[in-house]
Amino acid sequence: MTTAKPARTVFACSECGYESPKWLGRCPDCASWNSFAERATGRGSGAAARAPGPTVAPVELAHLPADDEPRLPLGLSEFDRVLGGGVVPASLVLIGGDPGIGKSTLLLQVAALAAGGRSPVLYVSGEESARQLKMRAQRLGLSGDGLFVQAETSLDAVFAQAEALGPSLVVVDSIQTVHSDAAAQAPGSLVQLRQCTMELMRWAKGSGIPVFIVGHVTKEGDIAGPRLLEHIVDVVLYLEGERFSSYRLLRGVKNRFGSIDEVGVFEMTGEGLRGVDNPSEAFISERAAGAVGSVVVPALEGSRPLLVEVQALANPTATPAPRRTANGLDYNRLILVAAVLSRRLGLPLAGQDIIASVVGGLRVHEPGADLALALAIVSSHRDKPVPPDLVALGEVGLSGELRSVAQLERRLAEAERLGFKRCLLPEASLRRGVSRTGLELLPAPGLREAVRAGLG
Ligand code: TYD
Ligand code: MG
Repeated sequence: MTTAKPARTVFACSECGYESPKWLGRCPDCASWNSFAERATGRGSGAAARAPGPTVAPVELAHLPADDEPRLPLGLSEFDRVLGGGVVPASLVLIGGDPGIGKSTLLLQVAALAAGGRSPVLYVSGEESARQLKMRAQRLGLSGDGLFVQAETSLDAVFAQAEALGPSLVVVDSIQTVHSDAAAQAPGSLVQLRQCTMELMRWAKGSGIPVFIVGHVTKEGDIAGPRLLEHIVDVVLYLEGERFSSYRLLRGVKNRFGSIDEVGVFEMTGEGLRGVDNPSEAFISERAAGAVGSVVVPALEGSRPLLVEVQALANPTATPAPRRTANGLDYNRLILVAAVLSRRLGLPLAGQDIIASVVGGLRVHEPGADLALALAIVSSHRDKPVPPDLVALGEVGLSGELRSVAQLERRLAEAERLGFKRCLLPEASLRRGVSRTGLELLPAPGLREAVRAGLG
């Protein structure tokens, strides 16, 4: 005779779903207080739980067809570029970014373009009403043919509508506003975020329809929010930019079907986001010839060379400790470059505030921008401009040496294309040889020589 085992229970955190056999006052995972509640495990025990499900036989790699994933171009070329040429059927794509950066605008445009002339597209919004979406679409000059909007927050209702409509693409704006009946927590809680994302993933795989989800990143929630979802979804893109600058960068952070080296460059206009065909030209377009403290660097965004203007202002400090401010640049690189300038070149920066920034709301975090930053600081300090036809490239080491950077040729070609004539660069970069370039190359072993060559 068998006796029924008593139902097993665990204590689970209502915020993040962390489970413990005992009640806990504070969750060790997400640090919430008094969030533990008892619940049945729901898992079967014994043999039933371990019974094998249907299995998939292994296949020999050599006998798999070698074709690429089929892709559906969406028609917005900067967006398609970041995806790797278009969206892969059945994929789940997360588009993250700060609130107000333009995620909804971008996806409404993408949805309308994908809907034009083809099978319908479903745009689910838990943030805006259908009327608000209509107004936005009008403002963006989108006709809305084939674009179906649904102001809905229940994921089950979304799936039901999507199955009835048979769309070629589903957009869920945003993952923080939808909820699944399978979890009791409030929309936006970690359990709901994870549950909804996993259900959308399963749905996309089952239906073959690609799904885009929008995820807000907030200052407090950036780790707990979309970052938590990155390992579930197939593709993660982030839309970035400074709030008060019109440029936006769409950057690939993860892509199971392609490289993450591509960036898309957009400009926010009165009619929505417009792809920028010639970003280098755009980013240096407002540069004043002969400006003090301004140096152009051929930087690399993923695999794409972009010319950006680095500015610096050195100014006698009014406070006991001089301040260093970096906008769009790595603060630690600024500290390093300033320290090398004062220690190795004897530049008296101790009494100077230094403000450094990248023009256009871009962020440049590669060490290859060090030399441009150093020259900009010296230029400002001496009140002397660098020649307007000069670009500078190189990483600064602690002993004042210049270190080479990756993909020199592509950067030089971009600088040449935009009419620059000379490039200051590390001597070390030339050791491996450089293919022919129309730029005059000014190699320097160290920062001291580079400053002399650039500023006399
Ligand atoms: P939105 O797409 O709503 O941001 P998110 O979904 O990431 O929160 O964009 C909001 C901002 O974009 C808002 O401040 C106004 C601006 N905007 C334009 O400048 N032009 C436009 O055509 C649109 C639709 C929005
Ligand atoms: Mg939005």
